[in-house]
Amino acid sequence: MATIGIFDSGSGGLSVFREIRRIMPHERYIYFSDNANCPYGSKSREFITGRAREITKMLIAKGADLIVIACNTATAAAIATLRKEFGIPFVGMEPAVKPAALGTRSGVIGVLATAGTLKASKYLDTRDRYTKGLEVVEHTGQGFVELVESLELDSPKAYDTVKASLQPLLSAGADTIVLGCTHYPFLLPTMEKVSADLGYEVRFIDPAPAVARQVLKILEEKEIGPAADGRPEVELLSSASADTLQKLFSLSCCSSC
Ligand code: DGL
Repeated sequence: MATIGIFDSGSGGLSVFREIRRIMPHERYIYFSDNANCPYGSKSREFITGRAREITKMLIAKGADLIVIACNTATAAAIATLRKEFGIPFVGMEPAVKPAALGTRSGVIGVLATAGTLKASKYLDTRDRYTKGLEVVEHTGQGFVELVESLELDSPKAYDTVKASLQPLLSAGADTIVLGCTHYPFLLPTMEKVSADLGYEVRFIDPAPAVARQVLKILEEKEIGPAADGRPEVELLSSASADTLQKLFSLSCCSSC
């Protein structure tokens, strides 16, 4: 059985965790929410790398065989450093620009992500590689992380906040929108409602299932899993109150437990 460490600035990475657990239900999981320092989106690369390093050390001390950086911002800032410094496999978030480029009919792709992700070379390189001849419209999901951390997923405030960031992408003609932050999938029902109310048909792309498949592939290659019949175990840890983490875990990841 493999021990899989997962971390994010907060509870958003649970959107990745639920996909990993869906296809690997018998592993041991340790999820760490760095919510004392959330959001990462506006913080410096140095700060995020420092946090990622400390969290990695802790997860390895707890037995992690593989670490999933379930955060686009932290992946962009720190994955190269972590891979150099630590001798275990890391899986990070890839902005789903390539599937969006292949799927768009209007030729306009929207990308919703944090400011940190949108200015990182990891994202810019991917965008420039796969979107030649297409228009890419980018927007930060202003206030989205805070909504998810306060579990305001479908309130009137959530609706208005989502609308403010989504409308510019829709009115620019985006028919395919990449969710470039792991918190955002928790607002998907609200995003779909806003789009429908404004009269747009749009496809949202969440990279989490692809990330989960990558985790499975690496575990199989390294022959450390997946377990066929292990006793599943989940440890939820956080750097501040674990309230939101517990609640969102029960809402989103716990249908089978
Ligand atoms: N969920 C993270 C991401 O994917 C971090 C959001 C934040 O803390 O700003 O980018």
